[in-house]
Amino acid sequence: MKKIKIGLAGLGNVGRGVYEILQKDKDLLTQRSQAQFEVVAVSARSKKDFIDAQIKFYENAIDLANDANVDVVIEVIGGDKVAKELLEASLKNNKKFVTANKQLLAEQGFSIAQLLEKTNSSIGFEAAVAGGIPIIKQFKEGLAANEIQEFYAILNGTCNFILTKMQNEKLDFALALKQAQDLGYAEADPTFDIKGIDTAHKLVLLSSIASATKPAFAQLHVEGIDEVTIDDINLADALGYKIKLLATYKKLPEGLQQTVYPALISVKEKIAQVDDSFNAVMVKAENADCNFIVGRGAGKLPTASAIVADLVDIALNRSSFLFNVKSEQLAEANIINISQREGKYFLRLLINKEAAQKTDLAKAIFGEKIKAEKAQFLDRGDEVLCGFVTDSQKEETVLEAIKNFDSDLVKSAKFLRVEETGF
Ligand code: HSE
Repeated sequence: MKKIKIGLAGLGNVGRGVYEILQKDKDLLTQRSQAQFEVVAVSARSKKDFIDAQIKFYENAIDLANDANVDVVIEVIGGDKVAKELLEASLKNNKKFVTANKQLLAEQGFSIAQLLEKTNSSIGFEAAVAGGIPIIKQFKEGLAANEIQEFYAILNGTCNFILTKMQNEKLDFALALKQAQDLGYAEADPTFDIKGIDTAHKLVLLSSIASATKPAFAQLHVEGIDEVTIDDINLADALGYKIKLLATYKKLPEGLQQTVYPALISVKEKIAQVDDSFNAVMVKAENADCNFIVGRGAGKLPTASAIVADLVDIALNRSSFLFNVKSEQLAEANIINISQREGKYFLRLLINKEAAQKTDLAKAIFGEKIKAEKAQFLDRGDEVLCGFVTDSQKEETVLEAIKNFDSDLVKSAKFLRVEETGF
């Protein structure tokens, strides 16, 4: 029986999960891979007592790449410096590499794709996107016979957990974040989660596979959930929507839309019903039509499950190009500016109460060009908090209207986008 010897870099939540699965699911994994996996070396900032004392311990992760006994290096340390060095040193020493590092691949994916081809190697990164959901396999293999036209995705467990807690339990943002951290969902730096950066990293990876383009992280429009308030959630709820941090990809004649923002989604749509730390991806594919997949997007065992699946691929010699085509075939991504987005908009306006009693308030606010399709009001003493959903408009038109609001009538204004997945 073939033995595959593993060097595990990082003994945090996910590293522990990998170690646990390799022990508890040993027999199943051996049957499916015709190999035996053994962790022979680990590295972490400090020695952890759950790891067998016989296993070699390194303080410096790079030592794993130089250990002749290691066949596969698993990188779950995150970040873009040591992880990149470890990747390069591992490939140089002919080791296989598995990573959960979305930041590294989203920000430096093109040069990594070139390096992989130069060294005739491949890497597994199923764990980098949507935790336990096998979405990389779905995009690369399951939907190989399709052009992916659109997808809508919830890709950050921490944000979905926080928004769900705010919606269902009216929990304060900071407390909900603390709970997500305690459950091991959040990044080492949780601003990556709540500012939408982590979602954007994952979106970029899926988009590059979908469109055969170079990862274009720096060009994306990215907003997080840190400015979503309970008022927004309550108004959206009264209007029939939930707020989700949504990654959107659309292949349009004028270019690619790749965006991350908190969006209002009708409660009738399937993706709006995905709560807690669950992630979901709704894909519209040329031939397969709609695919909708839901699963745990973060956490110890779900993320480790994806890493171990990559180990099984290694054992069975299954490999693919990083973004599914040769790096020389990856085109520049032509990203559409957010000002050209077309869709409905949610406006939260604080309005003078006397003026709000006018019969045609929406017309007084928006004029002729923009129509309000729905409205809800929350009483605020001398003022009224209004939630409007407009008809479909270009974003620049909505921004122009906001700029020209009558300041005697509208005391404050904020907008969010409404997304219609049609599924
Ligand atoms: N911080 C990430 C999340 C972990 O909450 O989804 C999984 O990538």
